[in-house]
Amino acid sequence: MRVIVCETYEEMSVRAADEIAAVMQARPDCVLGLATGSTPVGMYDELVRRCDAGELDFSPVRTVNLDEYYPISPDNAQSYRYFMNTNLFDRVNIDKKNTAVPDGSAEDPEAECLAYEQKIAALGQVDIQVLGIGQNGHIGFNEPDSALHPLTHLTALTESTLRANARFFSQGEVMPTAALTMGMGTILRAKKILILANGASKADAVATLLSGMLTTACPASFLNLHDDVTLICDGAAMSKVNV
Ligand code: GLP
Repeated sequence: MRVIVCETYEEMSVRAADEIAAVMQARPDCVLGLATGSTPVGMYDELVRRCDAGELDFSPVRTVNLDEYYPISPDNAQSYRYFMNTNLFDRVNIDKKNTAVPDGSAEDPEAECLAYEQKIAALGQVDIQVLGIGQNGHIGFNEPDSALHPLTHLTALTESTLRANARFFSQGEVMPTAALTMGMGTILRAKKILILANGASKADAVATLLSGMLTTACPASFLNLHDDVTLICDGAAMSKVNV
């Protein structure tokens, strides 16, 4: 695993945008696997800046997102579809028809998961998959458990994730307790993986990831099976790594 330790969140965001830009330049109609959460927000801002400056062209780009709350309407300001529209898609020259996020309003979640896998397969391989990491080591919404799912599936959120993400929901807003997420196999099929982690709250998860071992107690540790993973993080996220 390539590890890039940055001084600041701003530097992390620029380095992450460099990785995406390199893929877009090598293959203009690339497939970007995208993530939500607070961590990639700076990277999206930097990609928007580069698009405004004429350095990047999103018009031929296709995207697939990792996950979505369930149930949730795409118009709900807490949905990951809304997050992607406001943080990236509405700010660059991408064709929204080329952007995919699991449908949190699907009546039949199992059918939606199957259709989502088929959609990804039809796009061919994801060129680069961006990931954040949960405090409990989840990627997408693949939560620590005794067994992990290979494919896109409906999952219950753990107490740790509900607590960590409650900060995005204001009083009175109902937080979904389940989600649709790409599975471990879906994620690991990407050509390249870019994982971002900042802050001390991610230090335990990063330490387990960098131990090189695999454990379902930290789904991110399965990234050790992939041969092209880049971790971009700050010193606080690295603070529990034994060197
Ligand atoms: C969320 C998302 C993940 C994200 C993670 C970390 O629940 N499902 O894709 O990487 O939790 O979020 P944050 O970047 O806000 O710490």
